[in-house]
Amino acid sequence: MTLAVHEMSFEYEKGQPVLQNLNMDFSAHPVIGVVGANGCGKSTLFKLLLGLHTPTAGEVRWRDKAVRYDKRSLIEHRKNVTLMFQEPEQQIFYTDVFSDIAFSLRNLGIDEAEVFQRVEKAISMVDGQQFADKPIQYLSFGQKKRVALAGSLVLGTKYLLLDEPAAGLDPLGTRQMKALIRSISLSGKHVVMSSHDINLIYDVCDYVYVMNDGGIESQGVPEQVFLDKALIEKVGLEQPWLVRIHQELGMPLFRSEHDLSEASPLKNVEKECL
Ligand SMILES: Nc1ncnc2c1ncn2[C@@H]1O[C@H](COP(=O)(O)OP(=O)(O)O)[C@@H](O)[C@H]1O
Ligand SMILES: [Mg+2]
Repeated sequence: MTLAVHEMSFEYEKGQPVLQNLNMDFSAHPVIGVVGANGCGKSTLFKLLLGLHTPTAGEVRWRDKAVRYDKRSLIEHRKNVTLMFQEPEQQIFYTDVFSDIAFSLRNLGIDEAEVFQRVEKAISMVDGQQFADKPIQYLSFGQKKRVALAGSLVLGTKYLLLDEPAAGLDPLGTRQMKALIRSISLSGKHVVMSSHDINLIYDVCDYVYVMNDGGIESQGVPEQVFLDKALIEKVGLEQPWLVRIHQELGMPLFRSEHDLSEASPLKNVEKECL
């Protein structure tokens, strides 16, 4: 297990557990989703994975060893794991896009030629060339999210944690984010993401953890986890629409809208009309 949590609990205030006895392996699948109602502890979990908080019990593990919390160990850990925060404002510090994305690299003392190269690459990965020269304050929320994502990607870590990457995005922004997550995953990185958008999770994740009140209520491949209507409703979530049409209308269980349209009899009609 490369990145994992073992019997991990956490509380902000004594006697008020927020996460309880979690066992999770983030290395077994390329894109892992963490879902659960507001306040169930997703963002707290991600902050623990980055080493921003220390577990009250149990541990975060990297390559089967407990993460340590002295400054040097944390710098090492963050060469492996990065977090894109829920709110882009939490990680945007500069007024221009380039300096903002370059910030963490400059902080690490990387020379300017390499900084330039890596920032340019990160900007192109998020398809940000068209707004790279604008002041950040004039960017749309979705563009700010892409700057924040580029700021995470530029570190080149093997693990990328995305906390609510689609929150606040319009449908086009969500589609772009979905494509980005796929391409990040195809580039060999591990993605762990939380989202309120259950359809997005169903679409892009290979494995899902369902959290409830700081614990794991269910886990497995999305098709299996989301079929359990009672459980999904119990934890305050909704089933993905593709799972609902399967259960309610007796359609086959498709993994994506693309698979559904490929299987549609109308598709052949369209072809014949062309
Ligand atoms: N800095 C903090 N201090 C105290 N309690 C917090 C803090 N951040 C979050 N919490 C509490 O921890 C719980 C989990 O929050 P969070 O991890 O943000 O959940 P989620 O991301 O799933 O919405 C909530 O009850 C929240 O109020
Ligand atoms: Mg959150």
